Amino acid sequence: MSKKIVVIPGDGIGQEITDSAVAVLKKVSDKYNLNLEFESHPAGGTAYDLCGTPLPQTTLEAAQNADAVLFGAVGGPKWDNVEPTLRPEKAVLGLRKGLGLYANLRPIKVADALVEYSPLKEEIVKGTDVLIVRELIGGIYFGDKCESEIYEGNERAWDLENYSVPEVNRIVEFAMQASKKRKNKVTSVDKSNVLATSRLWRRTTAKVAEKYPEITLENLYVDNCAMQLAINPSQFDVIVTGNLFGDILSDEAAVLSGSIGMLPSASIGESTSLYEPIHGSAPDIAGKGIANPLATILSAAMLLRYSLDEQEAATCIEQAVDKALAQGYRTPDLYKEGFIKADTKTMTEAVLNNI
Ligand code: NAI
Ligand code: MG
Repeated sequence: MSKKIVVIPGDGIGQEITDSAVAVLKKVSDKYNLNLEFESHPAGGTAYDLCGTPLPQTTLEAAQNADAVLFGAVGGPKWDNVEPTLRPEKAVLGLRKGLGLYANLRPIKVADALVEYSPLKEEIVKGTDVLIVRELIGGIYFGDKCESEIYEGNERAWDLENYSVPEVNRIVEFAMQASKKRKNKVTSVDKSNVLATSRLWRRTTAKVAEKYPEITLENLYVDNCAMQLAINPSQFDVIVTGNLFGDILSDEAAVLSGSIGMLPSASIGESTSLYEPIHGSAPDIAGKGIANPLATILSAAMLLRYSLDEQEAATCIEQAVDKALAQGYRTPDLYKEGFIKADTKTMTEAVLNNI
């Protein structure tokens, strides 16, 4: 039976980079007999121009009925004056909600060929391969809030952090399963010395971990984790944490690699999951054919790994990317003298040739 991949290119460089990733998926599909089918749908500003809404119902329904979604990026200055509820970025939130995307995955792996781009010393960053698993639809971002109230004569506002046992179970289970295919270590990050929600998080995590004796569970306070990521990032395998801490730690971890054109992500849903590069639509270089397609190509590898359980094909793509970098291909965002200057097409060809 064929597997349906819905491709949502979006705006800016979205079309160029998803075209590259689809070409790579087609090649591995042939090699491993994956029988993938592709269907493209608009979203973002492009969809707003076409049909007056950033997330057409047909796009959402196609995504809900797909085996997986490959997303480019949305947004750009062209839509700066569109009314807030119809802005391109609303497409991302609508998909998150419509697909129930409860876990955000950010692997931060620094290719040996790119250690020199890191703001950290080469000997510190070398070997870094961490997967951050962030809870995405709970916690303080989704709790009760008050924009403004007068309390004892003073204006105040508040946001309520809350987590339930089933929410924590689901995300920690995911982290444990992911770690089983990696290095069998999970670091749970909280602030249980201060927060009640963190104490529930820690108790629940310990219970889940009992089912996984082969996995080492470590607990870290978020402030310590932030330091450890900068001091010794290669100590981590899987980091699992709540929405707020995960938002901050995943951006911190992203800069360790020094090249945002390289970083993929996945957002996991109950039935359909979505894969996208962490960068945006890069309007400044859109249409020039020079965007780095590797973050999207690596997102396609995650799609194979997490949605289709095609580990071999996923690894094949990751190795083809590493090899293209080792061969010296560099898009302009990473170009330095002595390397092979590659536009989007040349870089994509290099990856295809390594498959
Ligand atoms: P951005 O990530 O689009 O660009 C930041 C800088 O990095 C730019 O100089 C850009 O040229 C460069 N860059 C990004 N991706 C690249 C790639 N693949 N290859 C080479 N260079 C690359 O972030 P920015 O400028 O803050 O946002 C632009 C638009 O993207 C905004 O409308 C923003 O809202 C949207 N955005 C959308 C996201 C999404 O769809 N999930 C995520 C982040 C931003
Ligand atoms: Mg963020």
